[in-house]
Amino acid sequence: MKIEGKEYRTIWFEQNVVKIIDQTKLPHKFVIKDLKTIKDAINAIKIMEVRGAPLIGATAAYGLVLSIIENNDQSFLKKSAENLINSRPTAINLKWAVDRMINRLSGVNSNKILEIALNEAKEICEEDVKFCENIGLNGLKIIEEIYNKKKDTVNILTHCNAGWLATINWGTATSPIYHAHKKGIPVHVWADETRPRNQGANLTSYELNEENVPNTIIADNTGGILMQRGQVDMCIVGTDRTLATGDVCNKIGTYLKALAAKDNNVPFYVALPSSTIDWNIKNYKDIPIEERNSEELSHIEGLDENGKVKKIQIYHKKSKSMNLAFDVTPAKYVSGLITEKGLCEASERGLKKLFKSK
Ligand code: MRU
Repeated sequence: MKIEGKEYRTIWFEQNVVKIIDQTKLPHKFVIKDLKTIKDAINAIKIMEVRGAPLIGATAAYGLVLSIIENNDQSFLKKSAENLINSRPTAINLKWAVDRMINRLSGVNSNKILEIALNEAKEICEEDVKFCENIGLNGLKIIEEIYNKKKDTVNILTHCNAGWLATINWGTATSPIYHAHKKGIPVHVWADETRPRNQGANLTSYELNEENVPNTIIADNTGGILMQRGQVDMCIVGTDRTLATGDVCNKIGTYLKALAAKDNNVPFYVALPSSTIDWNIKNYKDIPIEERNSEELSHIEGLDENGKVKKIQIYHKKSKSMNLAFDVTPAKYVSGLITEKGLCEASERGLKKLFKSK
């Protein structure tokens, strides 16, 4: 997708260095950062210079490439894999990518291992691009259906950033939107601000602006009244981990949007590549929910009157805060899952129809 008219991906490899777009600097500064060591990759995931389930997975894959460049030794690689998996707990794509890399690399001769690791990491990225493109084409059909009935702008609400910045290209929730926009269907996006880190305001609105997709940032509590007023035709969100039962773990606040959507008969779709499906956990209560530093709530960053980025404290230092990063939307509130293989019911039956080998 484009930034200032130039095509970018969110991660790439160049001369033994992994290049990322530093998302902690957006939307005020566009900075490309070099990751040179496994520690750099782990840190980038932890402090969210890269974030979003598929991109975290891709960064972990390239992190293992960096680990081999640094020290071509199986026990170092194993330790790197462990540290990567522990860097953020909720998005299953992280473990999925590390396991895929380690399976591919186990027993490989040390002369060949770097080349094979690099090819596998690139393959993970290429696959994600293809899957996200297919998610877009599959989700486009839903938007087209709404447009054909309405014959007017389709208003879509999304939460957090499940855009191209969260993947390698296209995004998951945004891919159907980009495809509709490119096809000339008038779409408008309500971008939930997504406190505390404001990924909706800082990332989703930013990337939609760069692609000229009309959008409006709303406070996280605004979606309900917009739905009551008939100003939301559908919701599309991403996910960090979807269980085989169809229960969807995503950014904190997703669940409340799904409840409001149900109450107002607004279709609520979840877009995901199969790398985000957790086929093992049976009960959503067993999903590890990340709790992040409370400073993400008590402090906020923005531009000061001189146009300089500044961090300020927004409430009293004596006030305690709690920062749970994800919640779970039970399958019964999900109208459907949009995957690279097609659309399905949010249930084990629905998913297994598409992914027969599971
Ligand atoms: O904490 P983040 O910014 O990594 O959370 C991201 C989300 O919750 C996204 O909705 C999810 O990863 C889907 S990404 C296509």
